[in-house]
Amino acid sequence: MDYSIESLSLDKLQTHCVIVGIYTNQQLTPSALAIDNHTHQLISNLLERGDIKGKNSETLLVNVVPDSHIERLLIVGLGDVEKFSPKLYRKALAAVVKTLKTTQISSVACTLAEVELAGHDWQWKTRQMVEVFNDLLYQFSETKSIKPPVFALQSLQVVVPETVKKSASVGLTQGVAIAEAVNLTKLWANLPGNICTPSYLADQATRIAESVAGIKVEILEEADMQRLGMGALLSVSRGSRQPAKLICLNYQGATDNRKPIVLIGKGLTFDAGGISLKPSLGMDEMKYDMCGGATVISVLHAAAKLQLPLNIIGLVPSSENLPDGDANKPGDILTSMSGKTIEVLNTDAEGRLLLCDTLTYAERFTPDVVIDVATLTGACLVALGRVASGLLGNDDELCNALLAASETACDSVWRLPLWEEYQEQLKSNFADLANIGGKDAGSVTAACFLARFAEEFRWAHLDIAGTAWRTGLHKGATGRPVPLLMQYLFNRANA
Ligand code: BES
Ligand code: MN
Ligand code: ZN
Repeated sequence: MDYSIESLSLDKLQTHCVIVGIYTNQQLTPSALAIDNHTHQLISNLLERGDIKGKNSETLLVNVVPDSHIERLLIVGLGDVEKFSPKLYRKALAAVVKTLKTTQISSVACTLAEVELAGHDWQWKTRQMVEVFNDLLYQFSETKSIKPPVFALQSLQVVVPETVKKSASVGLTQGVAIAEAVNLTKLWANLPGNICTPSYLADQATRIAESVAGIKVEILEEADMQRLGMGALLSVSRGSRQPAKLICLNYQGATDNRKPIVLIGKGLTFDAGGISLKPSLGMDEMKYDMCGGATVISVLHAAAKLQLPLNIIGLVPSSENLPDGDANKPGDILTSMSGKTIEVLNTDAEGRLLLCDTLTYAERFTPDVVIDVATLTGACLVALGRVASGLLGNDDELCNALLAASETACDSVWRLPLWEEYQEQLKSNFADLANIGGKDAGSVTAACFLARFAEEFRWAHLDIAGTAWRTGLHKGATGRPVPLLMQYLFNRANA
């Protein structure tokens, strides 16, 4: 898909279809009005006839536009002008792409960046347009011998006035970088566990580091982890024939003395639960337990491509979690890199075992902040569904910055409490702490566990168990929270 900015007047555009918006109450956007005036009130007449009412996400494709150079017109309803919002903007764009997917139209020019949205500039509206188009046009075909038909749509021109071309271009560049990161994350998550192994992820990270300037990669092998005393991490991979990898990416976009932002992503390429085996129904989906890791690798890639003036470290502990004669057993006691001992009461709470040693490892980078991203708990799905990611952390400023970024990026998060009272649930009779906290507040106690290894820095945790994946008919990865993390980095770069 080719994305570009265009400032030509509507009748001069080289395109097969112009996209314009209308509101309810017969209100037209500026471009809709301009076309209406040049086509003997074509749009007004369609409204008059009731062919389209302007409700949000309603679409009407006009295949012939009499007395005009415009080949086709796609009219989309935006809804009530007073109630218009960023989410409704994205929804209308999604409806546009859904309609286009059913046609043979290969190029479109979209005027919707002109819609009024308080607090959202041309840059934001352009970036969102690219993101929504990219999201809806994604198709997974890597492991199909019979490839699904490719969509006809090949190019999108974002139509903006000459005066704002600069700002729109920045949005386009950001949008394209985010789109690429989202697609990479989706690809790796959708690939099955027998292809996307820890070694595969490590190879992908290595390739990325070689392909873009500013990123260095180091892959820690099990022997390295052994030397570092990562007993918690290694206990998980002991049950697997695939060796664990700790992928370390280092992007230096600022001077040496700027403390790095450390991003940590859970990289379980398959989670069967181990000896505490998961039920078989839906177990295939546990190939997406590496979504946090995929997000971190692709976000570093995008940050480097955009040459953001930040120092960022990406750490992805990667392993499988399988039942085996040598796997963790309930009751086993591990010694983590921090020295804290952990009683494994459930081998399916493996993510935190990888993450705790990675958090300790992060200390050596003297981070400004640490953010971990993990498909950590089914309980997060119970609490927040597939709408918001869970956010927990030990620093209000960092949590608020992530909340603000999520709002801007339309990639929702909701903060949950990380209060001392919950630590009670992690008490163990035999070790410093247990790896589970019982059936109540599962997402909170999981984060409480991590907090015990994040005492040396400002830290936040994103539980993406619900938001990284869709089930049912549209089963597959979503690419979240790539947009949120990219927005956080943009905000940091601008601060
Ligand atoms: N990867 C899972 C969490 C998960 C569940 C992600 C469903 C996406 C969808 C994690 O490793 C896990 O198994 N967590 C356990 C923790 C429990 C044993 C305390 C869970 O949520 O059941
Ligand atoms: Mn698990
Ligand atoms: Zn898991």
